[in-house]
Amino acid sequence: MSYLSHTNRPKLELHLHLEGAAPPAFIRGLAREKHLDISGIFDADGHYKYTDFWDFLRVYEAATAALKTPQDYHRLTLAVLEESAKSGVIYTEAFISPDFCGGRDVTAWREYLHAIREAADIAQATMGITLRGIVTPIRHFGPEKARETALCAAETAGDWIVGLGIGGDEKSGHLSDFKWSFDCAQEAGLHLTAHAGEWGGPDSVRSAMNDLNVTRIGHGVRAIEDLALVDELAEKGVVLEACPGSNVALGLYLSIRKHPINDLYKRGVKVTVSTDDPPFFHTTMQKEYENLHAAFDWDDAFFDQMAKAALDAAFCDADTKTRLDKILEQANA
Ligand code: ADE
Ligand code: ZN
Repeated sequence: MSYLSHTNRPKLELHLHLEGAAPPAFIRGLAREKHLDISGIFDADGHYKYTDFWDFLRVYEAATAALKTPQDYHRLTLAVLEESAKSGVIYTEAFISPDFCGGRDVTAWREYLHAIREAADIAQATMGITLRGIVTPIRHFGPEKARETALCAAETAGDWIVGLGIGGDEKSGHLSDFKWSFDCAQEAGLHLTAHAGEWGGPDSVRSAMNDLNVTRIGHGVRAIEDLALVDELAEKGVVLEACPGSNVALGLYLSIRKHPINDLYKRGVKVTVSTDDPPFFHTTMQKEYENLHAAFDWDDAFFDQMAKAALDAAFCDADTKTRLDKILEQANA
């Protein structure tokens, strides 16, 4: 099948930043309610405005100024899941940062989490989309804050908080600086992923695997610059949370056609597709599918097996996987 029916295929997304998925109109509405002037982060059309990755990080953090309470995160979660469900997403793992949810204070973090989970339950019941959380230190906030974040993660690890990740400026410090945090999370039973191989090269990907012991890598696509590393990823079954639209929007690759996702796949690496921060990059899961179809002729059968690979790599429990697998099977029948 090569026609564009990707719209209604059930999709799983493993790499989505909760704040990064905030529709700009939603953030503007919150800012208005709170009499905050953050108009400088929007362009004339109301989209987020930034010049490069580092400016994107600044704008991202400026937007979080409007997210001040657990109730704001409740509303944010509903707004984000509504958008994802429109693309046919049935399962999402969202990066959530205690840095923005209560300043890494465990008591406050629990309140934010409670509000987010309540919204997720509503979305599950009304939109059929399942959300799980990955706690995420921000790399450029430094290893000390990451430790506090990891402690928040360990305190709330379970069937809903399922992992620890790390995002932010990949050029800040070294991933091994965060080993304590990742060890702490692993001891608490959390799965591990890290942003690497986006703004850093193959060494960064190696460090994520060897220093932090991750089973998945956020982006990881610059592994293509070292074919021995590509072979190692394939051999070890490390899963890449590729976000092609994000990489193109941020100028890492000139076009989807020039993106290495297809080469990585052909060399045996387990690749999945996500949006990262969809409104920032003018993307949705549906658009990602359509763009990949146009660039590499990936068809429904291909996307369906990729959804299975994403389910396999998901950090949720076995019962949730069985339930989601039934949805995938029904759609393929
Ligand atoms: N935080 C949000 N999006 C990110 C990205 N693409 N890379 C690193 N940190 C991020
Ligand atoms: Zn990301």
